[in-house]
Amino acid sequence: MNALETELRDELAAMEAAGTMKRIPVLRSPQGPRVEFEGRGEVICLCSNDYLGLANHPAVVRAGAQALVAYGAGTASVRFICGKFAPQVDLERDLAAFLRTEAALTYVSCWNANAALLDALCDKRTAVFSDRLNHASIIDGMRLARPGHKAVYEHADVDDLRRVLGAAPDMDRELIVTDGVFSMEGDLAPLPGLVALCEARGATLIVDDSHGLGVLGQTGRGTAEHFGVADRVDIVTGTLGKALGGAAGGFVAGPAEVCEILEQRSRPQLFSNGLPPSVACGARAALAALRDDPARLRRLHANVARLRAGVETAGLRPLDGASAIVPIVVGETRDAIAVSEALLERGVFAIGFGYPVVPEGTARVRVQLSAALSDEQIDRAVEAFGAVAAERGLA
Ligand SMILES: Cc1ncc(COP(=O)(O)O)c(C=O)c1O
Repeated sequence: MNALETELRDELAAMEAAGTMKRIPVLRSPQGPRVEFEGRGEVICLCSNDYLGLANHPAVVRAGAQALVAYGAGTASVRFICGKFAPQVDLERDLAAFLRTEAALTYVSCWNANAALLDALCDKRTAVFSDRLNHASIIDGMRLARPGHKAVYEHADVDDLRRVLGAAPDMDRELIVTDGVFSMEGDLAPLPGLVALCEARGATLIVDDSHGLGVLGQTGRGTAEHFGVADRVDIVTGTLGKALGGAAGGFVAGPAEVCEILEQRSRPQLFSNGLPPSVACGARAALAALRDDPARLRRLHANVARLRAGVETAGLRPLDGASAIVPIVVGETRDAIAVSEALLERGVFAIGFGYPVVPEGTARVRVQLSAALSDEQIDRAVEAFGAVAAERGLA
């Protein structure tokens, strides 16, 4: 064993001793309200991003399968070298129509989309302002993009953003970037205040709505629709790996010039393969399912309300929020992992998150609801939460 291997082995042993080692189950079934774990059998799944229950929806699967036959297994190239596929272009048109933007451009992940966007828009004349709890892809994207100035404002705090903007040097271009729904808290960005501030300063507002699309707003257009400011957000990024079919992929939607510049010069477009056509076709079918059956959205929110009411009756206090993410803070990382394991013993899968994903002392079990969950499944999950909370003195 060389020096590096010895060092890594010691790090892993320390994680094991601290009870912070993640045990990643192996799925033997499609994603859905019930999943089959190797060695454990079926469990109720409360932690996928399959908010609308479309990950294994027949129309979505069929669209992907048909595209596999029609277009083959993959793209086998970068778009500008060997061409883009019709399903990618069709999906981009559908996404732009859904979000009522001029254009959209797809990537193989929203991580890539965020990194690409920030990198392409930032230069020495650019200042970027980012919410403290933004997704890791935005944080890393800002690091890579190296804008002339960058600052972090307190979470969801428009007054603090105003303060930070006031203290910033005068720059030619200002970008304000925020998650729409914050993935660890389940709360929403204060978009009405952010929109007003951006408009007053001539700044550009970028919203990563990965957890809001297909979840919030009357038609599932996301956090901005929820707040009635959908036509006032400049640029939206999002994933296709959550409500919109759950496969993979991400996109930027916004002005035609933004998408054109990204296609011309963003590094993941130039140096990485495009979205596989089968995934693009699956995502198109997911968008169509959302458009054609808005009852899915209502079912999702009824499920959120049922679970919240149930765990509150059991004495737990989830964090507030209008999204489909219901975090239940339990303390230290080892507590979150232990609660998650105790739930799993009772046939309920809800993952625990600890440091460094969330700050020390605020480790949590994060529940995510899906429209595909039945009342009975939610009630069984609530029962398990109640039993574990009582056992561990959490209620
Ligand atoms: C807010 C947010 N942005 C971006 C991503 C990354 O999405 P993808 O899985 O498409 O890279 C996630 C996924 O966890 C997310 O929660």
